Amino acid sequence: MKGRTTAPAPVETRRSGPVGVGIIGAGMISEAYLGNLVKCPDVRVIVIGDIDPDRARAKADGYDVEWGTPDDVLGHPDVELIVNITIPQSHAEVSMAAIGAGKHVWSEKPLTTRRETARALLYAAEHAGLLVGVAPDTGYGPGLQMARRVIARGDIGTPLSAQTAIQYPGPDLFHPNPEFLFATGAGPLFDIGPYYLTALVHLFGSFSHVAAVGSTGHATRTIGSGPRAGAEFGVSVPTHVSAIAQFADGAVSQSLISFDSPLSRIQFEVMGTEATLSVPDPNRFGGTVRITPKVGRDGIEAEPVWTEVAGEEERFGRGAGVVDMARCIRNGGTPIASGAVGFHVLDVMASMAESIRTHEAVAITSTVDPVPMLPEGWDPYEQTIV
Ligand SMILES: NC(=O)c1ccc[n+]([C@@H]2O[C@H](COP(=O)([O-])OP(=O)(O)OC[C@H]3O[C@@H](n4cnc5c(N)ncnc54)[C@H](O)[C@@H]3O)[C@@H](O)[C@H]2O)c1
Repeated sequence: MKGRTTAPAPVETRRSGPVGVGIIGAGMISEAYLGNLVKCPDVRVIVIGDIDPDRARAKADGYDVEWGTPDDVLGHPDVELIVNITIPQSHAEVSMAAIGAGKHVWSEKPLTTRRETARALLYAAEHAGLLVGVAPDTGYGPGLQMARRVIARGDIGTPLSAQTAIQYPGPDLFHPNPEFLFATGAGPLFDIGPYYLTALVHLFGSFSHVAAVGSTGHATRTIGSGPRAGAEFGVSVPTHVSAIAQFADGAVSQSLISFDSPLSRIQFEVMGTEATLSVPDPNRFGGTVRITPKVGRDGIEAEPVWTEVAGEEERFGRGAGVVDMARCIRNGGTPIASGAVGFHVLDVMASMAESIRTHEAVAITSTVDPVPMLPEGWDPYEQTIV
């Protein structure tokens, strides 16, 4: 292992001060995590590792952070919390290894690629007294939090339904190693679906039933950027998904999730008994919340009249959930982006995938407690751990 060389104290004796973080996975998203987490005083990023240690070295460059192999991170005595930002197909193995090493785990989405491995992971963590947190953490952002406050104060009446869409030509356009995004455990449903489905859980609670259809627009894709641009690879998952769902409280949603659309569009609307709310992009932390009242006598002919309720730009980004976890490690409690929410969302996605295969609706057996709202002004850059 290279980098910082000061001798660390064993984890057991570190009951105060910032929580020691080790990152596993030095790919595209690691830059956002590293760049954000080093600015958060409640955590201290100690080491980054990858099966390709050269990648870890390149990402550590410019930071006061050690680099090495995944074992260097797992075995580091100062690391209390592992941030697993490997590809989805490695999430179960890496997170399980972290729990085995006695570390709390933050995992990028999805929690794992299968319900069975996710269940085993949460069981192992609970038995070991360790926390699991799961992306997305965009729900910590002022955009989604404001949408929740507007609904909670009754501005749209009773929420009845939601309509969401994320459609664009696909991440092979910009990701230098996009193959994993078109393989089992990803595709649009498991890759960008978590942002929309998690936001729906925040707004409506547990899903109860889902049905979906899917298609694969292109059997092969071409890498669009980076050193391997032009290389072709095969697609093994549906790349266009149309899903309908019902929540335990009776509300319903319909969602389009597509890598097959020449049109790029993001839509998230919640229809209530009195008004409609436009929710900001759940893949971002900020954005403007807008509301339009129930149309009058001209009914279906009427144009919506949108009013901005509140707008706040992104004050922070990926890693907010890691900071929440760190605070829970020191002070007790459960992170908002909990393993339970991550499991429920995985269950919903796996059920939608099952519905695509069987052409049958699927009852969701997992449930999740209502996700608490954050106090206004919640800030991962604040120092709360001393
Ligand atoms: N790229 C994005 O814009 C983005 C945005 C949000 C979330 N994510 C999520 O972040 C995760 C990583 O995505 P990415 O785009 O950074 O991928 P990437 O392919 O760029 O990087 C993944 C890294 O993980 C390493 N890795 C794979 N298996 C490993 C293992 N078993 N042990 C240790 N290292 C291993 C790879 O060598 C690679 O360096 C995924 O879950 C993805 O859904 C990505």
